[in-house]
Amino acid sequence: MYEQLIHINQRPFPFSIYTADTLWTDPHIAQQMLKAHLNPNTDSASRQPAFIEASVDWLKQRFNIGPGTRLADFGCGPGLYTTRLAQLGAEVTGIDFSANSLRYAKETAVSHHLPIDYIHSNYLEFQSDKRFDLILLIYCDFCALSLAQRQQLLDIFREHLADGGAIVLDVHSLVDFARFEESVSYGRRQYGDFWTDEDYFDFINQFKYDAERVTLDKYTIFTPTRTFEIYNWLQYFDRQSLAAEFAASGLTVTDWYANVAGEPFDPQSPTIAVVAQKL
Ligand SMILES: C[S@@+](CC[C@H](N)C(=O)[O-])C[C@H]1O[C@@H](n2cnc3c(N)ncnc32)[C@H](O)[C@@H]1O
Repeated sequence: MYEQLIHINQRPFPFSIYTADTLWTDPHIAQQMLKAHLNPNTDSASRQPAFIEASVDWLKQRFNIGPGTRLADFGCGPGLYTTRLAQLGAEVTGIDFSANSLRYAKETAVSHHLPIDYIHSNYLEFQSDKRFDLILLIYCDFCALSLAQRQQLLDIFREHLADGGAIVLDVHSLVDFARFEESVSYGRRQYGDFWTDEDYFDFINQFKYDAERVTLDKYTIFTPTRTFEIYNWLQYFDRQSLAAEFAASGLTVTDWYANVAGEPFDPQSPTIAVVAQKL
């Protein structure tokens, strides 16, 4: 017990464990995530519908999206963006490793007669002969990846960009980092049915890594039949650190915004969004 408590409360090395696949693909948790995506009153998995509408409107104007635009949405989830973008006439590809979310996305495409190409894949291993005019990674998914994974993904983006194509993604800013506070809590079913239908006891440990500008929400869940851990890492950025990562993959940031709805860059915004292109 003592050893276990030491492990639970120990500060892990940043990004040393990757559990995003459990979070998004465990059959029970994936169902809960899908409910969160589709709940119009929460921002917990996707942003709320009014923001998504504003975002799609901005993308449409900014990139002149219409018939013939080849577009890829990495981490498309249940297709809240892909559906709307395909309705503009774009040729849309959605990539996600949640089979559950993709099932919903595909059913929506069929019912709306939209020819969206959904690919069930880890986007860190994405390979295709297709080339895209616009590549999206929306809702700060970039921040959940380690530096090595972020470089891998930017290399994949670069390889799949058509000539003149652009990447749009958003990240958490240092404003958001400043708000984060470390905490520890222990309880019984603190997240209700979210993790499992079984009874469980859970620890939530929040760690902040000042030098690395990283945070971790770590969940340790004890059920009668198993124990599992979820590590939700986030990397936070300023413009300099973000531009440097793009440059390392031969990409240049051409425009800065406060968010993926195209609001002007604001140093007080909790997010930063970029448009990037091949150098
Ligand atoms: C925060 S959600 C955002 C979904 C969508 N972009 C939106 O804004 O509505 C992140 C999505 O990325 C997917 N995802 C996370 N890591 C992934 C990976 N390595 N490969 C493929 N999909 C991934 C998850 O399954 C989830 O659907």
